[in-house]
Amino acid sequence: MQRKPLVMANWKLYGDFESISSWQQSFQTSDNVDAVLCPPFPFLSSVAKAERTFALGAQNVSQHLEGAFTGEVSARMLKSCLVDYVIVGHSERRALYGETDQIAFEKVQTVIAQDLRAVLCVGENQEEREAGTTFDIIEQQLERILTLSEQDISKLVVAYEPIWAIGTGLAATPDMANEVHHFIRNRLAKVTQDVAQSVQILYGGSVKPNNAAQLAKMPDIDGALVGGASLDAQSFTEICQAFGAS
Ligand code: PGA
Repeated sequence: MQRKPLVMANWKLYGDFESISSWQQSFQTSDNVDAVLCPPFPFLSSVAKAERTFALGAQNVSQHLEGAFTGEVSARMLKSCLVDYVIVGHSERRALYGETDQIAFEKVQTVIAQDLRAVLCVGENQEEREAGTTFDIIEQQLERILTLSEQDISKLVVAYEPIWAIGTGLAATPDMANEVHHFIRNRLAKVTQDVAQSVQILYGGSVKPNNAAQLAKMPDIDGALVGGASLDAQSFTEICQAFGAS
């Protein structure tokens, strides 16, 4: 089964109306790649309404659908802003905002219930890698999610983001990343072979125009979740081109 490359721009807490509009004008879409822009919440609806060649993603979501949860944004709200993808369980959410595997699981459920694509982030930190527990950590982060139905799991995207590679300029080597992607795909194969073959597994952590092509060539790397380099439309265009050419 051919998996179409998916390349996502995670703007984190950067940008304003002007910088996002000019990014939108400069970004050039590539053939054979689905590109997604995940701007901060306040800019979603203006980006949604503009003419665009990419899909829209959100960086976070509430696990609740509605209620007295000041400051939260629900999956239904995102859907009404024409969002297609929602990042869940990013390591910054886990480390800085106490997002546990259980919360990530609830978020994935609410996202899928709105028929949106949940992009579940998993990944080990430096200590865990050095201790040789990377696969155990990934297994643990996937465990609850893999209790969902096959139909629900097939709507997921998994993003492998080693924490030590995020924002550090120290990307995993293509072999190192592919080894973990392969582990994740084998884990998905325990659900069904169809799931394993169809779910896209993205790599994230210091993806740049100069390392994207090597990562894109790896058999189990189906795209990228890009932070820093996505703020620049030209760099993000080049990363998309690298995946489109793979
Ligand atoms: P980075 O961030 O590309 O700046 O390393 C990736 C991410 O956090 O998704």
